[in-house]
Amino acid sequence: MRIPIIAGNWKMNKTTAEAIELVNVLKEGMGDTDVKVVICCPYTVLATVKKAVEGTNIKLGAQNMHWEDSGAYTGEISADMLKEQGVEYVIIGHSERRQYFNETDETVNKKVKKALEKALIPILCVGESLEERETDKTFDVVKEQVLKALEDVEASDMKNIVIAYEPIWAIGTGKTATPEQANEVIAYIRNVLKEKYGEEISEIVPIQYGGSVKANNATEIMNQSDIDGALVGGDSLKAESFLGIINF
Ligand code: PGA
Repeated sequence: MRIPIIAGNWKMNKTTAEAIELVNVLKEGMGDTDVKVVICCPYTVLATVKKAVEGTNIKLGAQNMHWEDSGAYTGEISADMLKEQGVEYVIIGHSERRQYFNETDETVNKKVKKALEKALIPILCVGESLEERETDKTFDVVKEQVLKALEDVEASDMKNIVIAYEPIWAIGTGKTATPEQANEVIAYIRNVLKEKYGEEISEIVPIQYGGSVKANNATEIMNQSDIDGALVGGDSLKAESFLGIINF
């Protein structure tokens, strides 16, 4: 049984005061949920959020990291720095990073391997563009992204990975993939894992859907056979909507 993971990706949002306010309302409204909840917040509020979620089962996540341990990489952050703040999860290869910051499958692969080495759980993001979907390239694109990201990743590490399928055309656009479309690609990703690592391992990797997940579509998405959670952008910024998703 895979436990659903609902992760909020705050992107470049929330000052300290705003972060505290949001987390406090989330804590009050969460109740006893069986899903894993992760908040991937900006670096500047990691320590604040860590403190605010103490005693709850909300986990701390970051949105990116560098693949080197340390060095002359102005503006970057290392796995050890994240761990020091209590981070357990790290989003890797989000489409916005691939699109605006030139991340490639190669750098994504280096980051995944470093995160695993440092015992951080990567939330590896993959997904096709609208053009790729419309020209029937979805499956090829996603397969290539998954296989390249997991190059030289050992089977024994696969229990410590989360994959997020996020069609780029559905991110922040209000256009959600239909639950069936999302499930189809996610089932396909599971099959790619099966071919590479065998059935047993393919069955333990949680695969989330991301892209305009909202309280009013979460249940339908989460009820799909292969979808194990959601990576939520916009609607993780408001307590009410994120709670609606958590309590789907
Ligand atoms: P969205 O973003 O929920 O705002 O579409 C999802 C994501 O980028 O992870």
